[in-house]
Amino acid sequence: MGTKIRKIVVFDTTLRDGEQSPGATMNIKEKMEVARQLARLGVDVMEAGFPISSQGDFDAVKAIADAELGPVIAGLARAKEIDIDAAGKAVGKKGRIHTFIATSSIHMEKKLHMKPEEILKTAVNSVKHARTFTPDVEFSCEDAGRTDWGFMVEIVTAVIEAGATTVNIPDTVGYCAPWEFAEQIKYLKEKCPNIDKAVISVHCHNDLGMSVANSLAAIRAGAGQVECTINGLGERAGNASLEEIVMNLKVRRDFYQADTNINTHELYKASRLVSQVTGIRVQPNKAIVGGNAFAHEAGIHQDGIIKERTTYEIMTADSVGWKGESMVMGKHSGRNAFSRRMEELGYKLSKEEIERAFEEFKRLCDQKKAVYDEDLIAIVDEQVFADKVLWELDYLNTNSGTATIPTATVRLKKGNESFLDSGTGDGPIDAAFKAIERIVGQPFHLEEYAIDAVTGGKDAIGSVRVKVTCGDKTARGRGASTDIITASIKAYLSAINSILMQGEIRTKNGV
Ligand code: KIV
Ligand code: ZN
Repeated sequence: MGTKIRKIVVFDTTLRDGEQSPGATMNIKEKMEVARQLARLGVDVMEAGFPISSQGDFDAVKAIADAELGPVIAGLARAKEIDIDAAGKAVGKKGRIHTFIATSSIHMEKKLHMKPEEILKTAVNSVKHARTFTPDVEFSCEDAGRTDWGFMVEIVTAVIEAGATTVNIPDTVGYCAPWEFAEQIKYLKEKCPNIDKAVISVHCHNDLGMSVANSLAAIRAGAGQVECTINGLGERAGNASLEEIVMNLKVRRDFYQADTNINTHELYKASRLVSQVTGIRVQPNKAIVGGNAFAHEAGIHQDGIIKERTTYEIMTADSVGWKGESMVMGKHSGRNAFSRRMEELGYKLSKEEIERAFEEFKRLCDQKKAVYDEDLIAIVDEQVFADKVLWELDYLNTNSGTATIPTATVRLKKGNESFLDSGTGDGPIDAAFKAIERIVGQPFHLEEYAIDAVTGGKDAIGSVRVKVTCGDKTARGRGASTDIITASIKAYLSAINSILMQGEIRTKNGV
């Protein structure tokens, strides 16, 4: 008789810990789109945000919880009443409150200036308070990886007694070694008298590149929940990558004797979507979802693959949902086919959004011979995820060359009004940005600029991402077009619109 395969609870924190990654901020529409994809992927729990941290985060967590997508929705809360109240209101009765306090000596002494007894009391009270909102309460010992094991057992026993149903052991700073972390989990299982009343969870950061290894070691040692993010997104070197953990468990089910509820065919789509909305690219050699993960270049490998795939392939590209560049539609495709394809790609768009994206698609068909899924994603990304439109590009003319001063004339629309101005610069993009600044009546600082070809071919769409600051305000923007100057202007305007929508900046043209 074989051993029973354990089902590991997959707790995705892309929308919370992942979003804490520098530059990964998502607006509410983007968060909702990612949440829908995580639901299709089949994650068991989705940490949608940190409700006390801002009104925007509270609204996003509440909107995701209200959408009842399937997974349990969790909200993070420090071990403070005010945080727990916000999380409780955002996730509702069916949601999970995830409350935490640091338990390592260094954090208790230097950061919190609290004694272990105070930490223990605060943890217990927080769990009890969280239980007044929902029966599903998770408690995390922040920096557990550097916590005294005896104290960990003491606090975990106390919070389970107080009503915690999941106890999380994070390696917050990515310090642990897999063997050591597995021992820590075993110790907890052996020494904590009421451990069978809660699920042991692990949450590993990747500072030494060990997050996935540590998570898997902990699962082998008895952890029942794993916390992770799509693409390993997260602060510093990131969190443990969901797709790597899930595929390890699937491919080496024989070894781990454990599996998940994840529909692995949705992994690639999830990876692309998260990369698209955050602007954080996936390295080509990244396991599972990198562009080269299934490419066999070497002749000897290709020869083997042709004779028998399993000589060099331990999993198929299809099993993670990788289909390669696929040409989808052309000039003659209708609105229905377009809308169906968008749904297949994982987008749930309103009628108005479909209409706008479809118009853009038709324009693109006039400029580009073959339209790929990647092109459609770029269109929707720009059309639908833009927060709000204030200034819009109406007309552009640029002049540049080896013997001319680059000049741009730009006309922008704001509501029904049009404004025209021109600028000169180091190149046509710089000149156009200067013209925009003259129209908007405000200097902006371009902090980052990146351009990518969405697909291959000379007529590929250029996707531009920018980071713009103005005073203490920062925003990211993106734009896509077969013309890279237009794509750059769209990206710049989308960032400027976000900055201006943040409120306080007043400009000469009355915004
Ligand atoms: O890394 C960490 O310790 C965390 C906790 C809030 C769980 O993200
Ligand atoms: Zn973390």
